Amino acid sequence: MRKKIIFASAIAGGVVLTAAVAQQLPDQYKQLLELGMHPGYAYLDEGEDYFHNLKGPNGKTCASCHGQDASKLVGAYAHMPRYYKDIGKVADIDIRMLSCMTKYMGFPKSKDFIKKYTKKYRVPLATYVASKSNGMKIDVKLDDPQEKELYKYGEKLWWTRSGARDFSCGICHTVLSDKRIRQQALPNPVRDKLYKHWPTYRYSNDKMWTMEDRVRSCFKAFLLYVNKWDKKKDWIKKPPPYSKEVVAIELYMKHKGNGAIINVPGFIR
Ligand code: HEC
Ligand code: HEC
Repeated sequence: MRKKIIFASAIAGGVVLTAAVAQQLPDQYKQLLELGMHPGYAYLDEGEDYFHNLKGPNGKTCASCHGQDASKLVGAYAHMPRYYKDIGKVADIDIRMLSCMTKYMGFPKSKDFIKKYTKKYRVPLATYVASKSNGMKIDVKLDDPQEKELYKYGEKLWWTRSGARDFSCGICHTVLSDKRIRQQALPNPVRDKLYKHWPTYRYSNDKMWTMEDRVRSCFKAFLLYVNKWDKKKDWIKKPPPYSKEVVAIELYMKHKGNGAIINVPGFIR
């Protein structure tokens, strides 16, 4: 039975805001959250619906393999990104789910399907699957050689100055963190283990985002993207979705987040 009342599950959820976020939050949003009306739950519930009811061309649903109420995915998100033997690479939640859809549910690997997945299914499903690790500690292991290598690459990218501004993630988010650019406080995702609240709802654009979206957007917003990573189109200012660079940075940040308690959907500015 799927919940149709969008905000119902929020009441049981409980939202823990980091001090920095609470500080920046307008009063009406604080009240909304206190009432249990977390808009991120609209996405979570939609994801739950897809998980059980979206059928691939071969008739399978996510639940066919991963259990009713995603029972076999409890805790999975706490260890991601990680290496998966069946697809031969390190995957974040977005890539892992897309692979399951094309490899195991019969969806085509076509551009059209990937576009649809990206627009429609990805964020709700990721929110739902991630919520199955709520209350658990982030525990990214780096046992596999591919994981170790990608982690190092992610750390390197974090500090690499690039693009039109010649800035790096680390300058804003480690060196200058806690200071303000215009009105915006610069968060410190590594020290404060902020991965714990991703996927998260952003009230500044009224959308739920996964970490893929956040990392790609910071590349774009701050003109950091180096187009040599994208072989085809040199005008793109975001790394292409599901690219190695994004997963590497995610792996770096999430491993640094080890030990933090997962609580999604988050809620930020
Ligand atoms: C036909 C079976 C099948 C279907 C259907 C399927 N998957 Fe998977 N899924 C797999 C296999 C196999 C793996 C790899 C497991 C491993 O290596 O630990 C996997 C791994 C995953 C993981 C990572 C689990 C972990 O322990 O790290 C997630 C998350 C996931 N799938 C989500 C989904 C979602 C969401 C859907 C529906 C859109 C879906 N899967 C559909 C077979 C399936
Ligand atoms: C010029 C400064 C700047 C640079 C460079 C930058 N960011 Fe950001 N980033 C921001 C700001 C400002 C925010 C907060 C945005 C908001 O509140 O809307 C942010 C938010 C984030 C967050 C969300 C933190 C949270 O609240 O959970 C993450 C994660 C992040 N950035 C990662 C990155 C990564 C990875 C890079 C490098 C590719 C990067 N950023 C580069 C300024 C920057």
